Amino acid sequence: MKTYLVTGGAGFIGANFVHYMFKKYDNIKLINLDKLTYAGNLENLKAVENDSRYTFVQGDICDKSLVEKLFKDYDIDYVVNFAAESHVDRSIREPEVFVNTNVLGTVTLLNAAKNAWQTDDGFKEGKKYLQVSTDEVYGSLGETGYFTETTPLDPHSPYSSSKAGADLVVKAYFDTYKMPINITRCSNNYGPYQFPEKLIPLIINNCLNKKPLPVYGDGLNIRDWLYVEDHCKAIDMVINKGRLGEVYNVGGHNERTNIHIVKTVIKYINENVDDSVTEDLIKYVEDRKGHDRRYGIDPTKIREELGWEPETMYEEGIVKTIKWYLNNKDWMERVTSGEYKKYYNKMYENK
Ligand code: NAD
Ligand code: TYD
Repeated sequence: MKTYLVTGGAGFIGANFVHYMFKKYDNIKLINLDKLTYAGNLENLKAVENDSRYTFVQGDICDKSLVEKLFKDYDIDYVVNFAAESHVDRSIREPEVFVNTNVLGTVTLLNAAKNAWQTDDGFKEGKKYLQVSTDEVYGSLGETGYFTETTPLDPHSPYSSSKAGADLVVKAYFDTYKMPINITRCSNNYGPYQFPEKLIPLIINNCLNKKPLPVYGDGLNIRDWLYVEDHCKAIDMVINKGRLGEVYNVGGHNERTNIHIVKTVIKYINENVDDSVTEDLIKYVEDRKGHDRRYGIDPTKIREELGWEPETMYEEGIVKTIKWYLNNKDWMERVTSGEYKKYYNKMYENK
């Protein structure tokens, strides 16, 4: 039986990963270490909270003594580090917390894992640290070309630079100590439980509340969207079969402009929920500072080496996603009250 230390499991991708793993494997133990920032929500994990395979620990990945204690209390086989500050706009306003959690938190986890796993002649068998990274570390593409694993890192935002910094430290633990690691760099995810500061749930929420739909700049920035379960599947495959020390890009060649995404959501809601929701709600607002123009992943390596393929195509995934938010309006209401509401209002008050 394998024991996973998942960090940030109460957030968007982390929660989807916990559900994915419990559905796929009977015989695992999973410890979820999450600080429960504004982005972490235990409601996302209600279905597993009493599962005997599952343990929740509230805490910070930067808390060295807590992380070391977890390695003493449990024989951890795999670390899957999702915990991060993840919102680019917030990183532009408050960069320090991004460096703390994303870089220092990663080093704290790496060090505790190294101390627990290192032996006189290397590392215990069957251990692995997996860093969940992002395509944003590669910077921005022009109209053509794709990010491969050898594309030089060229991050632009405090968020992506902190993720790139973390990736370099993870790589250093492989180069220096031969610690068993992998790094995955995935494109933009969408699906259930995504916090509505990110484009797709924000647009759905604003449509339902007939609020303006903020589109940054000309709306023609391109992101490469992947249904979240396909990302979870890739992480599971990399844990099991990824060659040690390697980076794997994850993406399904699904590039869309932001305005296309916004119009798709409007059309669905207009036709299925409320025909007074129209494109009139679109509001072009000031562009994000340093806004990356285009992301596009080349997934050849993970496909050829590990056999990963995306299963949910965009046309199906986006409908599934919109329906999930429509069926979980109370979830949306709860997460958009309190602290987030204050933050959201501050962010958009002048736009
Ligand atoms: P999220 O913001 O929804 O969730 C982050 C989770 O981490 C939350 O539960 C939060 O409480 C927790 N957390 C934050 N700081 C912590 C700390 N110091 N200690 C412990 N827990 C802490 O993020 P997400 O979108 O689920 O992203 C998860 C990971 O995947 C991140 O590392 C992100 O960089 C990466 N990623 C995200 C995307 C995407 O499209 N969302 C794409 C590629 C990679
Ligand atoms: P986001 O979901 O924040 O992800 P990321 O910046 O990590 O790619 O944003 C996706 C794209 O949508 C990005 O180009 C910025 C744009 N965007 C808007 O136009 N309006 C919004 O309100 C938000 C949140 C994002």
